[in-house]
Amino acid sequence: MLQTLNLTDRPFKYFTQVDSTQDIALGWLRDGAEAGSVVICDEQLKGRGRHGRTWHTPHGVALALSVILKPTLKGMGQVTMLGALAISDMLDAIGADAVSIKWPNDVRLQGRKVCGVLPEAAWDGDKLLGVALGIGVNVRVDFTGTELEQTAISIEPALGQRFDRIMLIDVLLKRIDFWSQRLGTPELFDAWKSRLDTLGQVVTVNGIHGKAEAVNRDGALLVRDDAGILHTVIAGDVMME
Ligand code: BTN
Repeated sequence: MLQTLNLTDRPFKYFTQVDSTQDIALGWLRDGAEAGSVVICDEQLKGRGRHGRTWHTPHGVALALSVILKPTLKGMGQVTMLGALAISDMLDAIGADAVSIKWPNDVRLQGRKVCGVLPEAAWDGDKLLGVALGIGVNVRVDFTGTELEQTAISIEPALGQRFDRIMLIDVLLKRIDFWSQRLGTPELFDAWKSRLDTLGQVVTVNGIHGKAEAVNRDGALLVRDDAGILHTVIAGDVMME
């Protein structure tokens, strides 16, 4: 299906099947890939998710791509925000409603996870070569009868219409380009923050139970526990009540 993809404006590698687009992108980064280069595939056999989890990309029913970015060290902290924002913008563009971001970077449609973002950096000693921003989007993945049935969702059943995956990739890459030019700015941070559905909620994260009060400029979540102590959470899976 994606063989017809025409990405004349950027270097890209396309595979019908690959272990993980992240592996290809990180290798390409070390070989000197330029910013904006993208690795796309139709199916992943060993897709990676956050916290060492597996990410399933069955053939032809999802978007799986890794975009190479060259942020400054200052912009590095916003790469995850960038990914979640770009996907949210893509969903807006196709008419989705109830789009939100669950801290830190799960894009949700109607309260269920529709997409995952995984940034992985490549270094040469202490020199940052760049970041492979991995993005997986459920387009028509069928979660019926799986353990994810209540928590995951795909775009097509949610919107009740068929979408061309090439069109989705095109819109997504344009929004990634847009936000890449704003890495490290208050504009990007504010846009990400305004989409968070986590703030003000009672949450449990990393064993801390309390109210998610705020996020700081580094993207950390500030949770006030039941004893009134404020915790700064840098990473973790949030459960909302
Ligand atoms: C998450 O756990 O929420 C992040 C999932 C990221 C999945 C994408 S799919 C394309 C890229 N290749 C991978 O192996 N993982 C990312």
